[in-house]
Amino acid sequence: MNRRRRVYEGKAKILYEGPEPGTLVQHFKDDATAFNKRKHEVVDGKGVLNNRISEYIFTQLGEIGIPTHFLRRLNMREQLIREVEIIPLEVVVRNIAAGSIAKRLGIEEGTPLSRSIVEFYYKKDELDDPLVSEEHITAFGWAAPPELDDIMSLSIRINDFLCGLFLGVGIRLVDFKIEFGRLYENDMMRIVLADEISPDSCRLWDRETDEKMDKDRFRRDMGGMLEAYHEVARRLGVLTENENVSQGTGPVLVKD
Ligand code: TMP
Ligand code: ASP
Repeated sequence: MNRRRRVYEGKAKILYEGPEPGTLVQHFKDDATAFNKRKHEVVDGKGVLNNRISEYIFTQLGEIGIPTHFLRRLNMREQLIREVEIIPLEVVVRNIAAGSIAKRLGIEEGTPLSRSIVEFYYKKDELDDPLVSEEHITAFGWAAPPELDDIMSLSIRINDFLCGLFLGVGIRLVDFKIEFGRLYENDMMRIVLADEISPDSCRLWDRETDEKMDKDRFRRDMGGMLEAYHEVARRLGVLTENENVSQGTGPVLVKD
């Protein structure tokens, strides 16, 4: 069906060879997975929403000077990106205790953290992405100390900016996961933001009601995942009111 060369296939995305050297096409699938794929479902229309939301966020971050892999959106499910060498780390930034930190340290979910916490997980499915420290990262050579400095300062800038962006549309940014890559240009190497930022990779709570508007709806069998993602997109202003994101019969869209 697709004649382009597939470079990589992950849980929620496929990367194809791009039209020019040094570019790739990032395709957003409808697959929703959790717990390292032990839970899996196809959510019709999710890929379209994540493509739009991630495009919007990467564009905004680009405008404040955060270097990213994003070039432009190509269609409903695809964006053109720069090819980077992915650093095998999942960088998690937390503002409010939830998920694994709440469980691991026995903190009640919803407790605000007195300062933002940056955590690193080694990207290795076979090991279920273990939590690692900066010592592990530099000792095993996953990133060099100056690269880690860049990753840390970019992550904090991204968090500060996104907290404000989401708060402006009535959403609290509880935590999120980002990935970085090495971009080689001429003789230079730069650390850039890669992958995606979407309700798949963030915890987003309604500012007034604490209602979850992210993948926890799927992880925790709460239902209403697509409607929640649609509402995030709507509040960010990236979808017109009645735009149908599904290629099938169409989801029931949230209207207010
Ligand atoms: P955690 O509380 O499960 O460690 O997740 C922290 C944040 O990172 C949360 O917003 C969800 C996101 N995340 C991913 O995007 N991918 C993952 O594989 C995991 C475990 C978390
Ligand atoms: N995305 C990860 C997985 O597919 C985990 C998660 O987000 O909960 O397993």
